[in-house]
Amino acid sequence: MAKVISIANQKGGVGKTTITMNLGFALANMGRRVLLVDIDPQFNLTFGLIGMEVLNYEDNNVGTLMTRESRVEDSIIEIRENLHLIPSHLNLSAKEIEIINAYNRERRLEKALKSVLPEYDYVLIDNPPSMGIFLVNSLTTSDYVLIPLELSYFGVIGMQLMFNLMKMIKEETNENLTLLGLIPNKFTRQTKVPATRLKELKETYPNAPLLTTIPKSVALEKAQSQGISIFEFEGDGRAAKAFLKLAKEVIALVEGER
Ligand SMILES: Nc1ncnc2c1ncn2[C@@H]1O[C@H](COP(=O)(O)OP(=O)(O)OP(=O)(O)O)[C@@H](O)[C@H]1O
Ligand SMILES: [Mg+2]
Repeated sequence: MAKVISIANQKGGVGKTTITMNLGFALANMGRRVLLVDIDPQFNLTFGLIGMEVLNYEDNNVGTLMTRESRVEDSIIEIRENLHLIPSHLNLSAKEIEIINAYNRERRLEKALKSVLPEYDYVLIDNPPSMGIFLVNSLTTSDYVLIPLELSYFGVIGMQLMFNLMKMIKEETNENLTLLGLIPNKFTRQTKVPATRLKELKETYPNAPLLTTIPKSVALEKAQSQGISIFEFEGDGRAAKAFLKLAKEVIALVEGER
């Protein structure tokens, strides 16, 4: 049965999509069956993986699943062996109002995914940078949360908002939600700021597990813009090694518990 992991942070541009994609490839390379779900109306993950083909999924995407206009079996795209995608679409933001007014609005994604969970080991959900109904649906259906963050002043302060939201979700819709860890992203030693912020982060949130730090890497940015994983772009580089380490860490944390 799949473990569902939300990659979430209400702050924009911290690396949610980059981490969802490359962690997904890493887990698939290690023989795990992975389903990626893009629940961001910006559809960056979907566009990265299938490009203009996104236009073909107007009637079969995460939004139509949540409004129950489509069935989950018809919304899954095979990216490669062990790696599947439920795409987002240009029309997802238009679905938001419909979902907000629908019965059982917080559990629409949970219900939609339920029947395919036995077919996967991991479901990774890429979330939008906002605290709306899409993020609430993701967290409600997730076992775990991974929070990527940038080691800047506001990046560290912003963690509190995520923790508050997780607390609310635990109280209202999903008491089993667990913080798998924080992932410091875009780390560089070119200035002292990230190292200082990392120390602050550990002091401010001593109970939050800190996972592998992902280095700031031009290769990662280029791979992302070409829609390919870091393993295909520069398999022996620092960023690829960091993602491999992160995947092993996730496996140890999630599967060690079984
Ligand atoms: N470690 C890194 N090194 C260099 N560039 C990175 C790194 N991680 C992410 N980026 C780049 O930063 C930008 C934002 O990353 P990404 O799109 O993954 O963030 P996001 O949190 O998904 O953004 P949004 O909140 O808009 O969905 C992208 O251009 C991406 O290529
Ligand atoms: Mg994104």
